[in-house]
Amino acid sequence: MQDIIFSEKARELRALARQIADEHVRPKAAQYDKAQEYNWEAKEAVAQAGLFRTWIPEEYGGHGAGVLALAGVTEELAKADSGFGVAFAVNALGSFPIILGGTEEQKKRWLPQVASGEKMVAFCLSEKFAGSDASGLAVRAYEDGDEWVICGEKKWTTNGGVADIYSVFCVTDPDSKSRRISAIVVEKGTPGFEVKKVEDKMGIRTVPVVETHFDNVRVPKDNLIGGRAGLGFRHAMATLDYARPGVAAQAVGAAQGALNLANVYANRRQQFGKPISGHQMVTKMLADMAMKTEAARWLVYAAAASIDSTGPGPTASKMAALAKCYATDVAMDVATDAVQVFGGYGFMEDYPIAKYFRDAKILQIYEGTNQVQRMVIGRHLIREAAELEPLQEFIPQETQEEYAPKGVAADA
Ligand code: CAA
Repeated sequence: MQDIIFSEKARELRALARQIADEHVRPKAAQYDKAQEYNWEAKEAVAQAGLFRTWIPEEYGGHGAGVLALAGVTEELAKADSGFGVAFAVNALGSFPIILGGTEEQKKRWLPQVASGEKMVAFCLSEKFAGSDASGLAVRAYEDGDEWVICGEKKWTTNGGVADIYSVFCVTDPDSKSRRISAIVVEKGTPGFEVKKVEDKMGIRTVPVVETHFDNVRVPKDNLIGGRAGLGFRHAMATLDYARPGVAAQAVGAAQGALNLANVYANRRQQFGKPISGHQMVTKMLADMAMKTEAARWLVYAAAASIDSTGPGPTASKMAALAKCYATDVAMDVATDAVQVFGGYGFMEDYPIAKYFRDAKILQIYEGTNQVQRMVIGRHLIREAAELEPLQEFIPQETQEEYAPKGVAADA
């Protein structure tokens, strides 16, 4: 178990994020949602305040404040607008492959530009026929002289179009099982690289989610992350372990934002001669929403602190999945109940709560569906069962033999 300690820097960054959320995000959230426009004003404020430096190591112009600080900043932004929360956090998702797997030269080349906010980043993993099964990619990259040539289409690229740097996962060795995939950086403006479809989404409408198309896109060999082919799947998995607490923090912010609105509304709205917050069934709903949000918050902090302490590996993977799955399920539950508290008005777009409900659903889907998170958690538990062998003496022998044959694999 890891102590949860917020550094001075983490506290300072979080306070800045709250201020930006109050001044530049919340007041215009409905407007950008409706227009499906990116909130450039808030992005500039985030860059000026140095918040893009949060997760970037100090050697490359960042604050090196880690995943816990990133969670705090994301939570504050998402409390005001979940869409802007991911518009911010996806820069971490896109740059973690370079941080965790890049060469020294690659880190020096790209990370300072991300830290300053000069360049934004996107993560291109999913494809039309490869979502949860992330190893089943089809986008192909092959070597030609001093270049990699990339062909194919990616789906669900968050920040696509506004980002300048894209971490693209491609098949470089179709015959290999474990070293099939590599991550390659493609920069905006490279000939053959295009955003072809901007998705019309149910929620998080301020941030673009697009299809990215690669038509014989040529990049220098130096753009291969880590300098060696075949490491891409590991880079993708380690990246997701680092980024999932960010989605989880987005969920906590979204849940808290919805709860705050429901709480205020319930104290104003009068029915049967008193505020509805005084009616027991509504009081219970609000109390449950608060309990779940607070529990999710501390699980997210625990996961983030643990990842900062242990680095990539099984603990990071399990903690990230626990936090992502739990917090995003909570956000959906809390947003649903918040709409219920608002009654008929909750269903109307004149009120801000409908947006929290629309925004919440994607949290249970992206950066690994909650079914995938449960699968990851289950696999870890089965592995851990071996370490709990001494407990076997408390399980009657006959039951073990009959019902628990050794070597059961998680669904795999
Ligand atoms: N860290 C490092 N390595 C890992 C790892 C981890 N967390 N998890 C697995 N690996 C390694 C394994 O050790 C194994 O290595 P070897 O071949 O050397 O043994 C290899 O990767 C394959 O592992 P698995 O057999 O466990 O892989 P799998 O095919 O069963 O898939 C999975 C596992 C967990 C389902 C994975 O495919 C997964 O996470 N899927 C979800 C993908 C996802 O989250 N997509 C979202 C994309 S981002 C997005 O949503 C858009 C956006 O822009 C916001």
